[in-house]
Amino acid sequence: MILITGANGQLGHDLKKIFNERKEDYIATDYKELDITNIEAIRKFVSDKHIELIINCAAYNNVDKAEEEKELCYKLNSYAPKDLAIISKELNAEYVTYSTDFVFDGKKGASYTEKDIPNPPSVYAKSKRDGEESVLAVYDKSVVIRTSWVFGIANNNFNKQVINWSRGKDIMSIVDDQISAPTYSYDLAFYTLKLIKTKKYGLYHLSNSGEASKYDQAKYILSKIGWTGTLKRAKSSDFKLLAPRSEYTKLDSSKLEEVIGMKLPTWENGIDRFLDEFEDVIK
Ligand SMILES: NC(=O)c1ccc[n+]([C@@H]2O[C@H](COP(=O)([O-])OP(=O)(O)OC[C@H]3O[C@@H](n4cnc5c(N)ncnc54)[C@H](OP(=O)(O)O)[C@@H]3O)[C@@H](O)[C@H]2O)c1
Repeated sequence: MILITGANGQLGHDLKKIFNERKEDYIATDYKELDITNIEAIRKFVSDKHIELIINCAAYNNVDKAEEEKELCYKLNSYAPKDLAIISKELNAEYVTYSTDFVFDGKKGASYTEKDIPNPPSVYAKSKRDGEESVLAVYDKSVVIRTSWVFGIANNNFNKQVINWSRGKDIMSIVDDQISAPTYSYDLAFYTLKLIKTKKYGLYHLSNSGEASKYDQAKYILSKIGWTGTLKRAKSSDFKLLAPRSEYTKLDSSKLEEVIGMKLPTWENGIDRFLDEFEDVIK
């Protein structure tokens, strides 16, 4: 049996979609059914369910608020992923959890591989880095996947914000000094499952291919939806953000591509499929 935690989020939604399409059995939980910060509750929950794979999609993702909610952020992004690794080990189950491109400081000037040393600039990024390290130290049948700028049909994200803003604004300013790769949560789910099948555990990068600034991402979406307003370039320093951001954190996913023997789709292709899905939902 497969257990998904944080299953109502973007990634969890698409994992459920894929398992439903494949008619595979799974147990989906969000914090109401299973709070990942409560190790004893998890231990009790899994005890009679023959769990063979745990996919942890739960996380604390509010990068700015994390500067003020350090404790909660660490509970969700560091301690709980480690506890789930401990429980997976007790069950001899495979375990997958996720981290972020934000663990890098952006100073490399080229895309980041798994061999690059993180230098997390914010509380959120540090909590994720600590989570990665403790999971990989605790259990060797763990997969830790770093991804970036996730968007999907469930939950809120930058794509949906841009579409919303486009409805009420003729002028929009979006930063062009944060560069990475927008990643479709369906692709994150799909290629995670490909990776798990190989049984090659460890640390991986998984982002849609190509790279973009937030400005490029917004420009692509706005042209696709036929917005006729003016899009202006802005800088991160124009906004009073609580958490520092790195400029260039594009992940190099070639290790994963080699292991699964497939190339990842481009971020533009991911956005095209997202917009098709989005149109179906708002019809
Ligand atoms: N989103 C991004 O841009 C991004 C970028 C890089 C890495 N990642 C990582 O990718 C993974 C998937 O992200 P996502 O975008 O799918 O996240 P998401 O949409 O924010 O989903 C996270 C889910 O976890 C749930 N949750 C919160 N606290 C919980 C708890 N104590 N116990 C159980 N569930 C809890 C949330 O419920 P509520 O919504 O009700 O709180 C939500 O359903 C995460 O590890 C994330 O950090 C995401």
